Amino acid sequence: MLVCAMKKILLAFVGVIALALGAASLYYYLFLPKQRPAPDLQVEITPERVERGRYLVVNVLQCIDCHSERDWNYYGGPPVEPIGAGRSCMDRNSRPRGVNAGEESFPGRLCIRNITPDPETGLGNWTDGEIVRAVREGVSRNGEGLFPIMPYFIYRNVSDEDMNAVVAYLRSMKPQQSDWPERTVDFPMSSLIQLWPTPLEEAVIAPEPSNRVAYGEYLAVISRCEFCHTPRSPNSMEGYPDRRFGGGMPFFLNGQTLYSMNLTPDPSGLGSWSREQFIQRFKIHAQPQQVSPENNTLMNWNAFAGMTEEDLGMLYDFFMTLPPVPLRLEPI
Ligand code: HEC
Ligand code: HEC
Repeated sequence: MLVCAMKKILLAFVGVIALALGAASLYYYLFLPKQRPAPDLQVEITPERVERGRYLVVNVLQCIDCHSERDWNYYGGPPVEPIGAGRSCMDRNSRPRGVNAGEESFPGRLCIRNITPDPETGLGNWTDGEIVRAVREGVSRNGEGLFPIMPYFIYRNVSDEDMNAVVAYLRSMKPQQSDWPERTVDFPMSSLIQLWPTPLEEAVIAPEPSNRVAYGEYLAVISRCEFCHTPRSPNSMEGYPDRRFGGGMPFFLNGQTLYSMNLTPDPSGLGSWSREQFIQRFKIHAQPQQVSPENNTLMNWNAFAGMTEEDLGMLYDFFMTLPPVPLRLEPI
């Protein structure tokens, strides 16, 4: 009698565990992204790393442009204080701005969060590994997938050493307090955003700068020239491979439609530009100019103007090796 009851209890117990396991894996499958534990690493902070990180975060990777409010009275919308404290939220009623007309009308509410070292509202209590995983693999501290407006799918190409420099600089920033509400995402988007993150399996190594073309390509990818200057279908994150850097992507700002330039050496692109003209086209925006809203642009000229002439020159050298693609404007 007793043995029988115990068997029943045991069976029920096993059943409950099996159910719980099933529910857990279903939860993982439906609501959490592919992920690995945050890497166990501690970035050694050196002055060189902090300086390299500042250059990457401010001028190349545009973390600051997205994670701060911007002043659209100046060309390219330079970021304003408090730097890195995040940016006001997007929701269903947001004014369209960005790559696709609807990009900022968000199914729920999404705030671009504080990346300064403030312990409560910023990254102060995150481990280095958690920051690296969020930026390159799209998994937040709590294991959820980040919405891919955060361009982690591009940053997975940032080399391990450059990523360490980014962490070193983020740690050195002035802490800012902010108060953004938690993210809310409606179904089915809440499940779809869990599909994109992919763990990095191997070391990421940047090409040597002595290889100007390969290094120029590295810069053109991580600084998102490729993302904004390659046309793609509205439902895809991937550009058309045969029109890489071919321009013609529509952007919407203040009721205007702007098309990104063709960066291939076609006559409709950089064909007639000299390296010096190309570099100067950036350098003139070191001091942002006041501009009326309808003449503004979504390209972060001010940030890029701080790129070194050496790096801008390598971008140019890389663009000149691309197959020429005639400019075709994508339908809106
Ligand atoms: C194009 C805009 C954009 C750029 C550029 C960008 N981010 Fe983000 N970032 C976002 C958005 C949007 C989120 C919120 C995503 C979410 O909550 O689902 C985010 C989230 C994050 C998070 C997670 C924060 C949290 O509290 O969960 C970190 C860390 C982060 N970004 C760091 C960076 C760093 C470092 C860079 C530069 C290498 C960068 N971001 C560049 C838009 C951007
Ligand atoms: C956020 C999207 C975005 C990013 C990132 C971006 N661009 Fe652009 N780019 C645009 C848009 C939109 C235009 C057209 C409006 C303008 O001139 O700003 C443009 C225009 C240009 C022009 C033409 C300027 C002229 O005189 O007509 C050049 C050159 C250029 N981009 C190069 C680059 C390079 C190089 C990078 C990477 C370092 C880059 N862009 C990154 C969106 C972007």
